[in-house]
Amino acid sequence: MAHLPSPMLRSFPCFVLVLFTVLARDSSAGVVQDNAVVVSLHELKFGDDDRLSSMSASQIPRKQNGATILELKHHIPLSKPKKNHAKYIQNLLILDEARATSIQDHIKNYSKFQEKNAEFSSEAAQLPLSSGIKLQTLNYVTTITIGSTNTTVIVDTGSDLTWVQCTPCMACYTQQDPIFNSSSSPTYISVPCNSTTCTTSLQAATGISGSCSSDRNSCFYALGYGDGSYTRGILAQETIALGDVQIPNFIFGCGRSNRGLFGGTSGLMGLGRTQLSLVSQTTDQFGGVFSYCLPTRLYNSSGSLVLGNDTSAFKNATPVSYTRMIVDPTMAPFYFLNLTGASVGGVPINASGFSNGKILIDSGTVITRLPPSIYKALKAEFVAQFSSYPAVAGFSILDTCFNLSSYDEVRVPTLKLELEGEVTVSIDVSGILYFVKKDGSQVCLAMASLSYEDQVGIIGNYQQKNQRVVYDTVGSRLGFAKEPCSYS
Ligand SMILES: *[C@@H]1O[C@H](CO)[C@@H](O)[C@H](O)[C@H]1NC(C)=O
Ligand SMILES: *[C@@H]1O[C@H](CO)[C@@H](O)[C@H](O)[C@H]1NC(C)=O
Ligand SMILES: *[C@@H]1O[C@H](CO)[C@@H](O)[C@H](O)[C@H]1NC(C)=O
Ligand SMILES: *[C@@H]1O[C@H](CO)[C@@H](O)[C@H](O)[C@H]1NC(C)=O
Ligand SMILES: *[C@@H]1O[C@H](CO)[C@@H](O)[C@H](O)[C@H]1NC(C)=O
Ligand SMILES: *[C@@H]1O[C@H](CO)[C@@H](O)[C@H](O)[C@H]1NC(C)=O
Ligand SMILES: *[C@@H]1O[C@H](CO)[C@@H](O)[C@H](O)[C@H]1NC(C)=O
Ligand SMILES: *[C@@H]1O[C@H](CO)[C@@H](O)[C@H](O)[C@H]1NC(C)=O
Ligand SMILES: *[C@@H]1O[C@H](CO)[C@@H](O)[C@H](O)[C@H]1NC(C)=O
Repeated sequence: MAHLPSPMLRSFPCFVLVLFTVLARDSSAGVVQDNAVVVSLHELKFGDDDRLSSMSASQIPRKQNGATILELKHHIPLSKPKKNHAKYIQNLLILDEARATSIQDHIKNYSKFQEKNAEFSSEAAQLPLSSGIKLQTLNYVTTITIGSTNTTVIVDTGSDLTWVQCTPCMACYTQQDPIFNSSSSPTYISVPCNSTTCTTSLQAATGISGSCSSDRNSCFYALGYGDGSYTRGILAQETIALGDVQIPNFIFGCGRSNRGLFGGTSGLMGLGRTQLSLVSQTTDQFGGVFSYCLPTRLYNSSGSLVLGNDTSAFKNATPVSYTRMIVDPTMAPFYFLNLTGASVGGVPINASGFSNGKILIDSGTVITRLPPSIYKALKAEFVAQFSSYPAVAGFSILDTCFNLSSYDEVRVPTLKLELEGEVTVSIDVSGILYFVKKDGSQVCLAMASLSYEDQVGIIGNYQQKNQRVVYDTVGSRLGFAKEPCSYS
């Protein structure tokens, strides 16, 4: 199960300037050549500007042609860590590595993962926690209503159980919205512990079955994430609202003891594959289809989470092309695809790793991880095409870095991933380079190598920006289209 680093945040919506952002990018990112994009260094820097944006109100969810559209934003810290940019960028990458490692553990040995989790479920277990790291994270949040409480939650396609902090709380972290009070909601009911929801479904979603409270009326769940973050509480049902669509009896975790890097959010929305995930529970309303467009910048930009199958709700600039999902019953929440090729600046990459191209796509992992053979070949081609810029030392998991501080403009080779069914995903220019140093003196290729050839690659959210990504769980396919993300 994945984990979601995320700290001290507060979500500012930032709708008004979205258009501005897009226009600014279009004009200065201007010169698009066939195999490269010439872009100004300033525009490339993804919005880690020091100025805090003035806060605009959250956008009200809307309905369009049968689809429900929620605003999707970056999770932004309440107080920005100003002192040491490189340090917090590094911490962020460490947490991203923790998530990627946890996903590998999960895939490698599901039974082992379950044992680990079972241990953790005993009340006595203490988990290590990377506490006190006030990070700006690269996760995305949206707002839903539970009972009658509006709550901001992290959007995660790498896990299934949706949960929010609940009173009475044994141990809750500080959150921005009011905490959901189960006693004051007439529509709240707990799930009985002798139900298959408490046993089989919970087991599939979290790796461990629920346990019974002493009066045998409630079902306890426990869910640990890769970085030591966890939530524990009672499995319950409640009416939730996604925009103006009401979902009665939605099964979720009422978290009574929660710790970790969830920032100021109220919890998490699980959009994975098993029957407890939000997408599975809303199949009647939304047909098992959801999609998102992840905005490029931290401030003053938002994207959208669209629930439902109506493609006219999209703002895609190219047609949606679909690739097959690889279904693997043992790897519970994850969405797997078949990576068949890649190219850099129009030059195809040749690597043995494409012969077993199983790769997962995740909204909660930041940096894309590739099997060593593929990463090595891609990196070599990128370095060859980027050789006019001086190389500098690597940083954390990013080993291909450059000093761009003396350039006004940079010519960035295009990067494309090929998926089964001749689907080409052209990575947005904002997803190719990662600014470790704000002055541009250490800017790295935003991809990393896995340690072993047999590990499963991950397409991270940094490479999914400005892209409509459609999850059709009923048709078992995933679609991609270019889209300048905005909520409007
Ligand atoms: C965001 O927009 C506000 C105005 O709405 C502006 O004052 C602020 O400087 C912008 N922030 C960034 C980081 O561009
Ligand atoms: C919750 O959000 C909706 C729509 O964004 C808004 O109309 C409503 O007033 C909010 N409710 C509360 C209790 O804040
Ligand atoms: C998975 O873990 C179980 C229990 O720890 C062990 O018996 C088994 O050999 C492991 N399988 C693999 C492929 O590592
Ligand atoms: C929760 O709601 C109950 C019933 O309305 C109330 O008695 C209790 O004080 C509330 N708890 C908190 C922490 O607000
Ligand atoms: C669960 O327990 C309750 C009360 O003990 C009982 O009425 C019900 O039939 C049980 N349900 C199942 C599915 O065993
Ligand atoms: C989604 O819509 C398309 C056409 O608009 C249709 O072919 C497809 O079957 C629909 N999928 C679901 C899951 O309803
Ligand atoms: C991926 O696609 C290729 C080409 O269509 C095919 O040969 C291969 O078996 C597929 N891999 C998986 C894991 O399905
Ligand atoms: C790709 O690599 C394989 C072996 O590594 C080689 O046989 C083949 O000719 C290469 N193909 C291209 C197009 O370079
Ligand atoms: C980056 O380049 C600038 C200008 O050429 C130079 O002054 C600076 O020392 C370089 N920094 C590093 C870390 O190489």
